[in-house]
Amino acid sequence: ITVGTLISGGGTNLQAIIDACRDNRIDANIVFTGSDTPGVKGLERAQKANIDTFVVDYAHIIEDCKKNGIKDTDLPKDFNLKEIQSKQKLVVSDASKEQVEFFLKSRAIAEKKLLDIILDYDMDLLVLAGFMRVLTPYFIDRINIEPGKHKIMNIHPALLPSFPGTDGYGDTFRYGCKIGGCTVHFVDYGEDTGPIIGQKAFEIEDKDTLDDIKKKGLEKEWELYPHCIQKFADRV
Ligand code: GRF
Repeated sequence: ITVGTLISGGGTNLQAIIDACRDNRIDANIVFTGSDTPGVKGLERAQKANIDTFVVDYAHIIEDCKKNGIKDTDLPKDFNLKEIQSKQKLVVSDASKEQVEFFLKSRAIAEKKLLDIILDYDMDLLVLAGFMRVLTPYFIDRINIEPGKHKIMNIHPALLPSFPGTDGYGDTFRYGCKIGGCTVHFVDYGEDTGPIIGQKAFEIEDKDTLDDIKKKGLEKEWELYPHCIQKFADRV
């Protein structure tokens, strides 16, 4: 299968997938690596493996939207706020109506730039490998064009449905869990709520620090992600 990848940082999961492809451990070929942040190590890893890379600088785009405001003409032509609002399931309990609108509109401007690049590729699956930005229904609907068929995968640093959000290992540590883990799941309109594809767990000893937990967890992630991509490939 052809796989597109999105990253935000170090890209150790990306590296695990690159290695699995190179060694023919999975029937996959990475066609691009996109990043929301310039200059990250993961981009270097992709370039070393001769994979096309690109950056859509989210921080810069959002800053620009804040500074100049968002006019209707800045939005993608096919952007429909009402439709997207009715689908988005993120918990934004303490956000005002204006904040939610700004969030969806500024993300759509960034996501349109991503889509303009991504949709030129032949891609069976989009893999989020440490991509730290929420994807809104605007983006998801333009990738998952076949109803009921998921095409976007994410890795989460906790055993879902426990500890969704950005700090899975931190939350696992602070709660005092004796078992931690990671989850690969399909992406839907919620935050870390989509159907689970695979999970791996590890034991936490009383003496383990947060760094120990992260280390144990990442090692499990590097095994789990290629395995889940192969599971998907077997079904295509
Ligand atoms: C991983 O822990 C992943 O679960 C989380 O972000 C981290 C990315 O690490 N979503 P890396 O960039 O793959 O090294």
